[in-house]
Amino acid sequence: MASHPDRIGKYEILAELGRGGMGTVYKARDPILDRVVALKTMLVDVLAETGMRERFLREARSAARLQHPNIVTVYEFGEVEGAPFIAMEFLEGDTLPAAVEAKRFPDLASKLGVITQLCAGLGFAHRHGVIHRDVKPSNIHLLPNGMVKIVDFGIAWIEGGTTTTRTGEVLGTPVYMAPEQFSGEAVDYRVDIWAVGVILYELLTGRRPFDAKTVGALIYQIVHALPAPIDPRLCPLPPSVVVVVEKALAKDPQQRFQDLGSMARALHDLGSNLATAAHVAPSPQMSPASALEHDLTLTDAPFGSLEARPASVPAAPATGAPLRPAPRPPTTGRAGFLDEGTFGEERKVQGILLSLDDSLLVAGGTDGSIHLWEVATRTKVATLRNRVHMRTGHGSLTTCLAFSEDGALLASGHLDGAIYLWEVATGLELDVRLGHDGAVGGLAFPPGGATLISAGADATLKFWELPALRAGDARRTLRRQPDVVTCMTLAGMGGLVVTGHAGKTLRVHEIASQRLAATLHGHRSAPNALASSPMGDLVASGARDGAVRIHHVETREQRGLHQEHSRSVVALAFFPGGQRVASVATDSNVVIWDLNQPELPVTISGPAGESFSGVCITRDGRRLICASADGRFRVWLFPGQRPPDPRS
Ligand SMILES: Nc1ncnc2c1ncn2[C@@H]1O[C@H](COP(=O)(O)OP(=O)(O)O)[C@@H](O)[C@H]1O
Ligand SMILES: [Mg+2]
Repeated sequence: MASHPDRIGKYEILAELGRGGMGTVYKARDPILDRVVALKTMLVDVLAETGMRERFLREARSAARLQHPNIVTVYEFGEVEGAPFIAMEFLEGDTLPAAVEAKRFPDLASKLGVITQLCAGLGFAHRHGVIHRDVKPSNIHLLPNGMVKIVDFGIAWIEGGTTTTRTGEVLGTPVYMAPEQFSGEAVDYRVDIWAVGVILYELLTGRRPFDAKTVGALIYQIVHALPAPIDPRLCPLPPSVVVVVEKALAKDPQQRFQDLGSMARALHDLGSNLATAAHVAPSPQMSPASALEHDLTLTDAPFGSLEARPASVPAAPATGAPLRPAPRPPTTGRAGFLDEGTFGEERKVQGILLSLDDSLLVAGGTDGSIHLWEVATRTKVATLRNRVHMRTGHGSLTTCLAFSEDGALLASGHLDGAIYLWEVATGLELDVRLGHDGAVGGLAFPPGGATLISAGADATLKFWELPALRAGDARRTLRRQPDVVTCMTLAGMGGLVVTGHAGKTLRVHEIASQRLAATLHGHRSAPNALASSPMGDLVASGARDGAVRIHHVETREQRGLHQEHSRSVVALAFFPGGQRVASVATDSNVVIWDLNQPELPVTISGPAGESFSGVCITRDGRRLICASADGRFRVWLFPGQRPPDPRS
């Protein structure tokens, strides 16, 4: 056991996690915030050169600002006695080589899934002007739940800048470096795309694309030679997969994927063609049985070996229609709505929700799992699995979803009455048990951060103490309701909560006093979906008979009614101005209704047979995203809404 300092600054050092070229990484405890962190220290001499410290700081700062589910969270950049350090989120789970060793990639789809997440995180950094420069397996962590986290952003150039000046240090092998990095030319973000290609190659074949005995010979190969051909007998891969690998490993950066979003989409499409149910196996400590069942052949190839039994890798894409249609020009639908296309995967989806910054689309599955999709790249970045799902591989249908006010927590309610709380940054479930005796009808985090409200088929409304929940203690007060609660929304600037009931009424409750403020009547069948306007003065409710009604919460007046849907309304959303409402139903229609022109609802029809299960509108009001029950997300753009934002 290596000796290590007792503390660095305020941090208590618990253990040494590893040593790299730049310094040492420790597991440490922040005694003030009482949390475990990973502390990366830097060798002082690395920073001695002129301008290095400033450059380092600049890039470390921009990297620290990156907030993405697939990028490690940086807490602090500090300095103790001239020695800089970075405090970051401590990552449970494995680095990629350890995950390979632990056989967490039982099949091709799970390998592609990891690379897709890697593309999502790196692509996000690129769009924010940060190049990683040191993408390699040890900088990729896999959390126990299968979520990928990339570490060490934007610090690797230091190593490149000082390799000739540092003595007594073994130069790291340039296995993941791109050809242009050896020619002295300016390099750009496409070096990261190359590195992803090398890792993909390695993950698929268990071998490296370029291998040689000496560093000089290796560099020669990277610059001049073609990647070692993938032997179809040893490693039967669909030709379409090989094409992606080759494109990422093009010598000329112009010939590579030009952004990781397109690489992620290519992989994702391949993945959904293969086995949609496949996923990264949980780490053995989470699920002792399932992760070890897979029969992998181990060789002493670099970073373990990954070949599943050849028979388990289909030589050609398995049947099952790809969900991404062939590219086609956008079509202008009724009233000028532009169909921006479809993405998704073959998986039953019940409801959707956008994160507060519109970057993530949360989709609740009918099997209880929750999927996070990055809206910009249309790729899946994480799958959240609750304890039942981890244990059994399936769970209970997701009935509702809600984000906390700060966006850090996600709550999911389920048909079996369970409510799960998720930390969005890590994808981990909070260890606290809460729920209802019957389907959860609605969830809401009112402003202030003190409460989570839930309602359910057990005819109760529960006000949970949020700080206690975060600490693992499920404390709540309970308000009995006359009948089953089917849906819920906040209203009145967050001071009110409105519940929909099987007995066809809507009930308005004051959150502070937990008292009933009003009952709204009108529906002829049970309301199924509720939404409130951005100002909180109006609530829209959709019922099983297809009717959508608008009520004014204060005056209780009914402000409108449309009966455009032929079947049960499942979701509703207001546009930012509060003048328009979108509704979807189990028919194949999206209805957009302008409250100023109530007689003219606009219907955009999905393909026949499409059954919608959710609808969201981005905060700029420009995009409407619908979820189909079969797992597809359809995006509509409203060009007339306002001039396009040049940043998007
Ligand atoms: N945020 C983190 N949480 C947990 N372990 C980490 C974290 N960052 C780095 N490590 C561990 O520290 C080791 C050393 O990291 P590093 O100095 O970057 O070297 P390298 O990436 O070359 O292996 C890594 O392999 C990893 O196991
Ligand atoms: Mg590292």
